[in-house]
Amino acid sequence: MPTLRKFYYFLPPAWRFLARRLYYLPVDLYEGLSGRRGPMAPPRGLIYTGSGDFRAQGEKMRQYLIELAGLQPHHRVLDVGCGIGRIAVPLTAYLDERGSYEGFDVVEAGVRWCEKSVSSRYPNFRFRYVGLDNDLYRSGGGNAAEFRFPYPDGDFDLVVLTSVFTHMLPAEVANYLREIARVLRPGGRCFATFFLWNEESARLSRNNPHFSFPYDHGHYRLMDEQVKAANVAFEETHLLREMIGPAGLKAVQVHYGYWAGRNKEVCKDFQDILVLEAR
Ligand SMILES: C[S@@+](CC[C@H](N)C(=O)[O-])C[C@H]1O[C@@H](n2cnc3c(N)ncnc32)[C@H](O)[C@@H]1O
Repeated sequence: MPTLRKFYYFLPPAWRFLARRLYYLPVDLYEGLSGRRGPMAPPRGLIYTGSGDFRAQGEKMRQYLIELAGLQPHHRVLDVGCGIGRIAVPLTAYLDERGSYEGFDVVEAGVRWCEKSVSSRYPNFRFRYVGLDNDLYRSGGGNAAEFRFPYPDGDFDLVVLTSVFTHMLPAEVANYLREIARVLRPGGRCFATFFLWNEESARLSRNNPHFSFPYDHGHYRLMDEQVKAANVAFEETHLLREMIGPAGLKAVQVHYGYWAGRNKEVCKDFQDILVLEAR
């Protein structure tokens, strides 16, 4: 694993947030004071959810939700692990007054930014903070493997998880898949990204020192043994047969990403995308 990433994982979650905040402070001050940052764009130092162009990535994902998962303007959407609004912000320009959005996350700062910046302008967009444990993003909290989503059965047309199952452990993912099946209407869809471990990704990733999963736990693999949620890959067949199927979902599309070393030109995204359907 590259040394910089190793060092980053070594820091406690609160220190990682602080380091990011301090690193971007000058540019955040400049963009804030000069009015260059729009009201629906978080300061860079608050974007704890990954690198890359926040707005462009969000818009790309919105397009995939429409093209691959069949999202329509009147749909009711659940964004699990909504972070700091990367999916919510572009959806404000797509869902109409009949549609609605719910998001929840374990990091309070992201949820509060979304409430202040998004819900205040779009009341049909709501966000919740849930205090669950995740050793990459926070210290301590409840057990995600036992968490019941705070929504009634069959409440949603679409559930979205972008780069969330890539930071969760098998018992947590299994519970979330069951909860997704419960809160989706029959025929509703789930758009979720993963790192899928199969023969091809195993072979390719052997030659990719920058992004690998050296710790083998049987049906899943870890990038870092100390910070388990840093990145998690799931053995594809096991995930489909033993987790997704029994949850009451069926995989209707798979789009492999380029994380392991596949040709970037032909992949939709860095991570693998699964589109699931509720039975
Ligand atoms: C890489 S970020 C992606 C955020 C957002 N989905 C996006 O695409 O910008 C992963 C997110 O998952 C959240 N997360 C981790 N464990 C979670 C859990 N058990 N339930 C809900 N969210 C969780 C983290 O707090 C973080 O916001």
